[in-house]
Amino acid sequence: MIKVVLLGANGSMGKLVGRLAIDDPEIDLVGAFDVNEIGRECAAIVGSSSPCGIVIQHPDELDSFLQNVAPDVAVDFTIAEAAEKNCIKLADKGIKSVVGTTGLSEQFLKEFESKIVQNKAPAVISSNMATGVNIFFKIAPLLASYLEDWDIEIIEAHHHRKRDSPSGTALTIAKVIADALGVKLEDVAKFGRDKGPNKREVGAKKEIGVHAIRGGDIVGDHTILFAGPGERIEFKHQAHSRECLANGAITAIKFLNKVDREDAKIYTTQEVLGLID
Ligand SMILES: NC(=O)c1ccc[n+]([C@@H]2O[C@H](COP(=O)([O-])OP(=O)(O)OC[C@H]3O[C@@H](n4cnc5c(N)ncnc54)[C@H](O)[C@@H]3O)[C@@H](O)[C@H]2O)c1
Repeated sequence: MIKVVLLGANGSMGKLVGRLAIDDPEIDLVGAFDVNEIGRECAAIVGSSSPCGIVIQHPDELDSFLQNVAPDVAVDFTIAEAAEKNCIKLADKGIKSVVGTTGLSEQFLKEFESKIVQNKAPAVISSNMATGVNIFFKIAPLLASYLEDWDIEIIEAHHHRKRDSPSGTALTIAKVIADALGVKLEDVAKFGRDKGPNKREVGAKKEIGVHAIRGGDIVGDHTILFAGPGERIEFKHQAHSRECLANGAITAIKFLNKVDREDAKIYTTQEVLGLID
C-alpha cells in the first residue's frame, strides 16, 4: 500500500483526490491537512462511504506529523503560498510529492528542484493532470509550427473562485507554443488587452495573446485560436468535471511510488502518461 498524505483536503480538488485515494486498494491515506474543518473525519469531508480514521489536521501540525509518520507520497492542492512552504518541508524530509497547485513562483521552483535532487525525493508538478490536456500540450506546438505566420490567441475560462490568472494550463500552452516557434514567451506574451489603442503585432513569433475569463462554476476551458487570412482554426479542450484532474493525481501517486530515488527530478504529467517520445 502506498502511504499518502493529502494537503488541501477540504478543497474542490482535495475532496475528489481524497475520495479516490480512500477508495483505491493500492493507497492508504495516512494524513489529511487543511486550514478548515480541523478535527473532522476525512472520509466525511471527501464523501467516501468508508471511514478512514484520519481526521483533518492544521498545517501547523505538519512538522510533527512528518516526524511520526513516514508517508511515501504527499499530494498538494492548496494555494501557492502554502504549497511553496509545504513542498520545501516535504523535500527536506525526502518525501515524494505530487504538486497540483498552480501559480508557483520561479524562485520556489528552482529551490524545490535542487532540494529534490539533493534529498532524492522525486516530484510531479503539473498545471493540469488531465489526460486530454496533456495530449493537447503535445499537439498544440505541431499546429503552431505550421501556422506561425497566423495570429495565435489562447483563451481560458474558469470558475469565479480561481485565484491565479491566467491559468497554469494556459501558461503551459503558451510556453510550448513559444518553444516550438523558437521565441521566448516573455518577449511575445500579451496578457489581456486593455481599453484603448491596442494594435496587435501580426504573427505568432511577434505576439501570443493570453486571455482569462472568470465566471460561475466553469471547471476549465482552454482554446487556442489560430487566425489566418480568410480562415481560422480553434483547438479546444473542455473539462466537464474535476474527475479527470483528480484521476491524474492518483495516476501520478502510483507513478512516483515506482520512481527510483536515484532518478529524482521534477516529472511532468506527460512523463507520467508516457507521452514523451
Ligand atoms: N494540476 C491540476 O490538474 C489542477 C486542477 C485543478 C486545480 N488545480 C490547482 O489546485 C489548487 C487548488 O484548487 P481547488 O480548486 O481545489 O481550490 P480550493 O480553493 O477549492 O481548495 C484549496 C484548499 O486548500 C486549503 N488550504 C489553504 N491553505 C492551506 C494550507 N496552508 N495547508 C493546507 N491546506 C490549505 C483551503 O482551505 C482549501 O480547502 C489551485 O492552485 C488550482 O489552480 C490544479
